[in-house]
Formats: sequence, structure tokens, C-alpha cells
Amino acid sequence: MKHFVRVAILVVVLTVLLGFGLDNMGYMPELASVQGAAIDDLFRKHVWVISFLFSLIMGFMLYSFVAFRKKPGDDGSGDHFEGNTSLEIVWTIVPLFIVLYFAYLGAEALAETRRADPNAYNITVVGSQWSWRFDYEDFGFSSTELRLPVDRQALLLLTSTDVIHSFWVPEFRLKQDALPGEGMERELRVTPTIVGDYKLRCAELCGLEHAYMLSDVIVMEVSDFEAWVAEQTEGPAGDGAERGEAWAQQFGCQACHSLDGSDRIGPTWLGLYESIETLVDGSTVVVDDAYLIESILDPQATIVEGYENVVMPPTGASMTEEQIQDIVEFIESLSE
Ligand code: CUA
Repeated sequence: MKHFVRVAILVVVLTVLLGFGLDNMGYMPELASVQGAAIDDLFRKHVWVISFLFSLIMGFMLYSFVAFRKKPGDDGSGDHFEGNTSLEIVWTIVPLFIVLYFAYLGAEALAETRRADPNAYNITVVGSQWSWRFDYEDFGFSSTELRLPVDRQALLLLTSTDVIHSFWVPEFRLKQDALPGEGMERELRVTPTIVGDYKLRCAELCGLEHAYMLSDVIVMEVSDFEAWVAEQTEGPAGDGAERGEAWAQQFGCQACHSLDGSDRIGPTWLGLYESIETLVDGSTVVVDDAYLIESILDPQATIVEGYENVVMPPTGASMTEEQIQDIVEFIESLSE
């Protein structure tokens, strides 16, 4: 009996030390969403259970090393045990209830992260190899940055144009896959709590540039957000080429097409207009307005030699005719 009392004390001490140590290690970035609180709560409980289980095993083992070590001159083979039914029942039943309890806590936390605010506004998040686009459905514009007003719930509808991507902002704690295909949209609700700059990361291995599939997430005061929305809905000023530059920025074209002649996933736009391209079937084509418009609307219609293995996302489907015309003028201006 005295052994059990000593081990119990050792286990309690180890659990407390380990639990507090892990809890205060700061391995998580600052929490910056309402939904994340439920996740952190659950995580903290897990950390304590882990601390206890580790201490239980290590406590018994360390104590045995010392208390039951071989004495000098002791050549016996030790006591022999033949199972213990009540102990086996206890160590089956107790973990069963702990697991059930955590299943309940998990379901509760999941419900908490999905609690809908009727005033939530809608943003469609589109993942493509290898960039993100955000369509602000309620305001009618797109952006390559995710700007959110503080303390208001955003309902994100996640989708993908090609393979599986995953939306993850560590400070929000939430993570959700963006899946390709009709009817495969997934929802994620986020209510940011702290004004600041964050990073959206893709959390699903999605190809060559997966590690660089980042976007800025900017949580703003409500008044700043409204000013930004007003600016975006007004659309860019200037002539066609200047507007085209802004649209290309909004739709994320430069993730694949450089403006300085350098090689990215797609052809550079510098000097592209009126150049002569060789297609995969060996024929040639002069890059003019009609060819560019076709390539924006139906990227797979004609493939230029050397780009057989890259698939351009059908971003053009989300653009208006005027936006496409502006972008063509912008590309044309890069050849002057
Ligand atoms: Cu997209 Cu990884």
C-alpha cells in the first residue's frame, strides 16, 4: 500500500509540473477569432490528459527503478503474477469513458465553431494552383487579399478550380479543405477578434508551389473595411491598360504570369502581345486580341509549346467582358 501512496503522489506532482509547463509554453500563436476559443479550450484539456497519462506511466516506471531495484546478493527471479481481472476491467472501462467524454467535448467544440450569425456576410474563397482568390459576393468584387472587418462573422464558402487545397490561418485556429467540383463547396465561419495582419496558408500538399500558396489576411476596423469596400466596388480609375493592371492584380493573374520577362508557371506578359507562339501541334499563332480573349475564357483551347503540363485556372469565367478587354489592353501596353 505504501508503494501506491508514494507513486500516486509522484504521478500528481509530475502531472501538475508537466501540465503547467506545456500549458505555458506558448506553442500556439495569438488567438484571434471567436471560433478559435473552443478549439483552444479543447486543446488545453487534451494537454492535461496527455500530461496525466505520461506521468502515470513514467511515475510507475521511475518509482519501480528505485524501489524494486535488485539488492546486492539477491539472485531470485522475483514474484510471479498470473493476471488481475478487476484491474483489467478498470483499465478498460475508465479509458472508455474518458474517450466518450472527449468525443462529447469535440462535438460541442465543432458546434461552437459552426454557430451561425444571421448577419454574417459571404465570401467565396477560390483555391487554384497556386494562389487564393476571394470573391466578395455581397459587394460584387474580387481580391487576392482577404480583408475582414473585426468582430463580424464572415461565412466563407470554399472551393477549388483544380486539386484539393486547405484554408488555414493559424491565429484563427480553423482549417477546412477547399475541394474541386460542383456541389463540393465547404463552409467555414470566422469572426476575427484582433485587428492585424495574418497569413493564410494552404495546408494540403497540392503540387510544386504548395509551400508558397500564401495570401495576406488583414483584419480591419469596421470603418476602414467599409472604406476599402467602397474603393473596390467603384473599380479602378484610369484608362483601359491601367484598369487592366488593377483587374489582373485583383484576380491574381501575376501568381503565374510575370510582368518583367521572368519565367513563372505561365508565359510572361512582357512582350507577349503580337509575339508569335508555337502551339503543341506545331502550328503558330500571332498573339492578338482574339487569341488572348480566347485564352482567358478557355485556357485549354490552344496550348503553347512547353506549357503542356500546366493547367490555367478558369479565372476568366468570373470576369466581365469589360474586365477582360481591360486586361488585354494591359497586356498590349507591355509590348510597347
Ligand atoms: Cu494549395 Cu497546397
